[in-house]
Amino acid sequence: MHSPIEPSPLQLLRDEVYTERGVEVYMKRDDMIHPLIQGNKWRKLKYNLEAARAAGYRRLLTFGGYYSNHLYATAAAASLYGFEAVGVVRGEEPAALSHTLQFARSRGMRLKFVSRAAYEQRYDVSFLEMLRDTYGDFYLLPDGGSNALALRGAGEIISETGSGFDVVCVPCGTGGTLAGIACALNGSSRIIGFSPLRGNPALVEEINRLTREYSGCTYSNFTICNDFTFGGYARWTDALIDFVVSFEAKHGILLDPIYTSKMMYGINTMIREGKFARGTRLLCIHTGGLQGWGGVKQEKVKWSG
Ligand SMILES: Cc1ncc(COP(=O)(O)O)c(C=O)c1O
Repeated sequence: MHSPIEPSPLQLLRDEVYTERGVEVYMKRDDMIHPLIQGNKWRKLKYNLEAARAAGYRRLLTFGGYYSNHLYATAAAASLYGFEAVGVVRGEEPAALSHTLQFARSRGMRLKFVSRAAYEQRYDVSFLEMLRDTYGDFYLLPDGGSNALALRGAGEIISETGSGFDVVCVPCGTGGTLAGIACALNGSSRIIGFSPLRGNPALVEEINRLTREYSGCTYSNFTICNDFTFGGYARWTDALIDFVVSFEAKHGILLDPIYTSKMMYGINTMIREGKFARGTRLLCIHTGGLQGWGGVKQEKVKWSG
């Protein structure tokens, strides 16, 4: 079995624009942790798998959409670490399964498709009881795997790199990864969360809820940037795809189509526009998600890689 690589490498990115603007940019290569359970998925699952095993659970149950990196990683982790897995999927069963769900099923994950309306009620006691009646008892992983144990795992990004960075940049979905980083930094540095959604007013409150649950505190040193969404989750433009191709050619790093590509595009734009003072040291987290390219290819979006 391929063991997770920890600590993940820290790579200095060399770019003439960074030099010109006097900033140093490092990338935390969490994409290299594991080919299947990479990035923030490993960080979030690590202590949850330990807790599930310690409490004697044999089955994991979690939630996600057709293209969910979290369902993909949970299916892989369950098969590698000896758990059964159930994935509750938002939406009716499609005629053709996405690349992500095909993989999850191939790893033995049982998929339960529920309507969008039913999905909204997924944490209701009666819904969870119905799932327990159907599948037997399970260890429940919330959406995106974001809970207090996930924050503990995400915090290790900072214990591995140290806190000597002025700005930490991380993509945001549920906010769990940012929340873990915020707790580990404990108020030091500035954190920018790059969201692929234009409007998500509940995100800051969710991050505060998560940090309060884990550390008892909320933090004011983070902001959410949604200037680089490219239209939302499953949206790409030729400019973004061209950026991914040139980023890989320059740095030897493949970015994912949903999160890290948009974040790095945004960071490069901000650096070019002089948004960071000379001497700023930036830490950018590569949160993995490379399986997402399978979905892009399936949808035949232009891709020359
Ligand atoms: C590759 C990748 N990066 C970043 C995120 C966002 O992480 P979080 O949900 O912890 O904000 C996700 C979604 O969970 C993801 O799959």
